[in-house]
Amino acid sequence: MTNKKVLVEPARLWWQHEVIYQIYPRSFQDSNGDGIGDLNGIMSRLDYLVDLGIKTVWLSPIYPSPMADFGYDISDYTDIHPMFGTMADFDALLKEVHRRNMKLILDLVPNHTSDKHPWFIESRSSRNNPKRDWYLWKDAKDNQLPNNWRAAFGGPAWEWDENTGQYYYHAFLKEQPDLNWRNPEVKRAMFNVIRFWLERGVDGFRIDVLWHLIKDKHWRDNPPNPDYKPHMATYDELLPLFSTDQPEVHDIVAGIRDLLDEFGDRIMIGEIYLPISKLVTYYGTSNRGVHLPFNFQLLMLPWSSQKISAAVQEYEASLPQGAWPNWVLGNHDQPRIASRVGAQQARVAAMMLLTLRGTPTIYYGDEIGMPDVTIPRAEIKDPQALNMPDKNLGRDPARTPMQWTDQEHAGFSKSKPWLPVGRNYKCCNVDALAKQPGSMHALYRKLINLRNAEPALTSGNYVPVYTDHQLFAFKRTLTGAGSFLVILNLTSRTCYFRLPFSGTVEVSTIPDLEGSSVSGEIVMGGDEGLLIRLDEDIES
Ligand code: GLC
Repeated sequence: MTNKKVLVEPARLWWQHEVIYQIYPRSFQDSNGDGIGDLNGIMSRLDYLVDLGIKTVWLSPIYPSPMADFGYDISDYTDIHPMFGTMADFDALLKEVHRRNMKLILDLVPNHTSDKHPWFIESRSSRNNPKRDWYLWKDAKDNQLPNNWRAAFGGPAWEWDENTGQYYYHAFLKEQPDLNWRNPEVKRAMFNVIRFWLERGVDGFRIDVLWHLIKDKHWRDNPPNPDYKPHMATYDELLPLFSTDQPEVHDIVAGIRDLLDEFGDRIMIGEIYLPISKLVTYYGTSNRGVHLPFNFQLLMLPWSSQKISAAVQEYEASLPQGAWPNWVLGNHDQPRIASRVGAQQARVAAMMLLTLRGTPTIYYGDEIGMPDVTIPRAEIKDPQALNMPDKNLGRDPARTPMQWTDQEHAGFSKSKPWLPVGRNYKCCNVDALAKQPGSMHALYRKLINLRNAEPALTSGNYVPVYTDHQLFAFKRTLTGAGSFLVILNLTSRTCYFRLPFSGTVEVSTIPDLEGSSVSGEIVMGGDEGLLIRLDEDIES
C-alpha cells in the first residue's frame, strides 16, 4: 500500500535538506574521447561532487534518442544511449552514487517521444493502428491547421502527415510528437517506465514540461498575449491558456505520486514555468502531488532586490501548509547566472540560493562561475537557436563542457568537444579555483557545507529583515539551533546598513571579513554578501 504520511517536521526528508546538482551529461566529463560526456565520465567525478558537499545529482536525459533536442526526444525510455554508455555502466554509476550516500535523479520526459520511437512509428503507420490514439491526431479544419497553437521552438504546433492525411500535435519540435495522456494505455505504458527505473533503484525523477501533459479537450484557440514583444519567441505571441496547465494534469501527478510512494522515499520534481499562484497547485491536495515544483523565479525575475524580496515573500506566503520550497539559479535552458548578473554579483546570487529556505538546485559549472560561452554561428547546435536565428534564444552557451583543468579542452575530453570550451578555461577551471581560498568554487563549497551542517539553514524559518533598492536582508532561525542573518547587496554600489543584531561573519563574498565580529552600522561593498551567525538565538 502507499505510504500517505503527511510531513510534520521540517527538513526531515533527504530531498529537503540536500542540495541538488544538475549534470548535463553531454558536457560534464568525456571518458572515451569522442568529445561527448558519458556515464563513466560522471562516475570519475563523483568525489569532486562529494567534496563540494553535493548529495543529490540529477542527470538530464541519457536514453536512446536521435538527439534532435539533445536527448529530450526519446526513442526508448528503458535503455541507455550508447553515446553515454551501457545499462551496466548506469547500474555501476548508481551503485557508486549510493555507496557515497548520495542520490540519483533521472529526467523523465512523458509529454512527448521522439518521432523515431516505435510507438509513434506505429501510430503514424495508419489511422487504424492500435497506437493511433497514443498521439494527438486531428483533421484539418477548413483546409487549415486544427487550431492556432504554436510550437515552443517556432512555427505552428501541427505537422501534416501526408500518408494518413491528418495533423499531429507537437509542443516542441516536429520530431517530438506529444503523447495523448487521455488514453489510459499511454498512462499505463509510462507508469511502467517509471516502475522500471524505480525498481533499478533511482531515487526519483525530474519531470520534463509537466504542465504541458494534458491539453484542452475541445482544442480551443489560444488567446493573443497582450505583453508580447518582438524579441520574444513566436510561441509567446499567444497565451498558452488551452494548451498547458489543464486541471486534469493534477490527476496524473497524483497517480505518479502514488506510484513513487510504493517505493518509499522517492521524489518527483516538476519542470513547471508558471506564476507562483499556479505553480503551488502542483503540490497537490494535501501535498500529494509534486514534491518540488521547480521554482524558477530567480531565473525569471529582473535582478532587483525589491523584486526578488517581494517574490520570496509571495512564494513563502503561497506555499500550502507542509509544502517544501525550492530555488533554482540555473539550468540547461537558461542563460548562466554569471553572464546574467556578472561574475561578482554571481557570488551574491550563490549566497542567496544557498541560504533561502528550501532545496537549492545548482547547475553544473555555476560553482566555478562559468559564463555563457560564445558559440560561432557554424557551431550552433540547439534547435531553438537554429529555428529562430533572429531571436538570440540559443541554449548552447549554457551547455558547454565543464572546465576542469587548464589543459587542452579544459580536461573535459581528449578530443574536440561537441560544443566549444569557454575561452576563459585557463583560469576558470576546477583545478585552479579549488586551490584559491577566495574563489567562486571556495565560496560554493563553504556555503554548501555550512548549509549541510546547520539545521537553521536547512530547516529554519525565513524571516524578512530589510529591503531597499540595493539590499535584501533576511534571517534564518531555528529554536535551539541558532540564527543567521543574510545581507545581500544586489548592486555594484556601496551601501550602509545598521545591523539590528550583533554576530560573527561566517561567510562573506569578500572572504577577508570572515571570522570578524560585527554590530551597529556596517558598510557593504558593491556585490557584497554576508552570512552572519547571530550572537543570540533570535527567533523573529
Ligand atoms: C524542457 C527541457 C528542454 C527541452 C524541452 C522539450 O523544457 O528542459 O531542454 O528542450 O523540455 O523537451
